[in-house]
Amino acid sequence: MKKDIAVSEGLRQLPIRPVYLLSTEHNGKKNIITIGMFAYFSGKPTLVGVGIAPSRYSFDLIRQSGEYVVNSVDEKLMEAVRVCGEKSGREVDKFELAKLTPKKGTKVNAPCIKESPVSIECKVVKEIEVGDHVWFIGEVLATQVHEGYRWNDGLLFKWIDKDGFYYKVGEQIGKY
Ligand SMILES: Cc1cc2nc3c(=O)[nH]c(=O)nc-3n(C[C@H](O)[C@H](O)[C@H](O)COP(=O)(O)O)c2cc1C
Repeated sequence: MKKDIAVSEGLRQLPIRPVYLLSTEHNGKKNIITIGMFAYFSGKPTLVGVGIAPSRYSFDLIRQSGEYVVNSVDEKLMEAVRVCGEKSGREVDKFELAKLTPKKGTKVNAPCIKESPVSIECKVVKEIEVGDHVWFIGEVLATQVHEGYRWNDGLLFKWIDKDGFYYKVGEQIGKY
């Protein structure tokens, strides 16, 4: 038997919601924002998207520069995820506050985050306004990964806004 529950509660039951750190730069101003809204849109060309609310400082930086870098996070970056999801780059330098190191991108001017296991460099090819967020669709121009990294090494996978907890990827249970 299934029962009706509030929409917001129902969405929290889904097994998704990875967390990422998105880095940007425009006119020498670098910033990082914690995001949950990330999606894979196309294989060829390789397109991903990030949903950013217009009130964010990062929104202006992406609009103006037309670039961003999606950085994956693991357990070691939990404090950085908190800082970058709480403070605005309008008031603080989040690279400094979160003790993260900007590393020049290979194909974009936006910085990658050195401490992140995987960085994906993107150039904006389209903007889509959807509800309270704008989705910046980006073509993936380059990707970098820490040497020796295995994709499921403690990646932060699910966050639930109500309880504020983070969970990591579980064990392998099958093969397709
Ligand atoms: C777990 C988590 C996920 C978030 N996901 C998003 C998101 O997908 N899009 C967004 O615009 N803001 C998201 N936020 C909120 C921003 O990270 C937050 O407002 C941040 O302070 C904005 O920084 P900025 O003004 O420097 O860009 C999220 C926050 C947290 C903690």
